[in-house]
Amino acid sequence: MVKITIFGKGNMGSAIGKNFEDAGQTVEYIDSKSSVEDVGEIVVLAVPYDAAISIAKQQKDKLDGKIIIDITNPLNFTTFDELVVPADSSAAAQIAELLPNSQVVKGFNTTFAATLVSKKIDGSYPTTVQLASDSQSAKDEITSALDGSNLSVIDAGALKRARELEALGFLQLTLAASEKISWTGGFGIFK
Ligand SMILES: NC(=O)c1ccc[n+]([C@@H]2O[C@H](COP(=O)([O-])OP(=O)(O)OC[C@H]3O[C@@H](n4cnc5c(N)ncnc54)[C@H](OP(=O)(O)O)[C@@H]3O)[C@@H](O)[C@H]2O)c1
Repeated sequence: MVKITIFGKGNMGSAIGKNFEDAGQTVEYIDSKSSVEDVGEIVVLAVPYDAAISIAKQQKDKLDGKIIIDITNPLNFTTFDELVVPADSSAAAQIAELLPNSQVVKGFNTTFAATLVSKKIDGSYPTTVQLASDSQSAKDEITSALDGSNLSVIDAGALKRARELEALGFLQLTLAASEKISWTGGFGIFK
């Protein structure tokens, strides 16, 4: 059994936590008022981008040696028209720079919360979680910890691919916000 610590119990935090529980793991949540004690082997930052950066800065010692999953889509929510990270970077790369002793993984940002709950896109197609990281062992551990959740998981490559995953998440969000797709739909991956 793997202990999973999730910062944030909003739409994504609770949906991701339920999947790890479905796979038999132990899940604990940390909200913005909790004091942070010992965290699990896998830590999910299921919070807005600014909060994820703050947590990485403030909890660096507690996050040392852990697998950190960054799920953020770092949008400019004022214009809804751009990512706020530089074009050659990503939120995940910034978090990895702040946490050099952790294994940072980009994941879950291309799947809407509702599709993580139902485990289906548009009620029909398997929901696939994409993982990008420079640590193969971290991706393998997350994949193994989700085994039994009924989510499909794919290795999307190195942490550099986080940029593309964040662009994909951004595009999907604009499609749903403009009502061209529903929040239960989105991009699917078919092997
Ligand atoms: N919703 C989606 O379908 C979706 C899809 C892909 C990616 N994402 C990404 O997932 C992240 C979370 O989105 P969401 O939809 O789950 O948002 P949400 O429902 O608003 O939940 C965010 C949660 O973060 C918590 N939080 C904020 N600062 C915190 C801190 N310092 N420590 C611990 N918890 C903190 C909030 O709790 P408090 O009320 O206590 O502040 C809240 O419960 C965002 O980065 C978003 O871009 C969302």
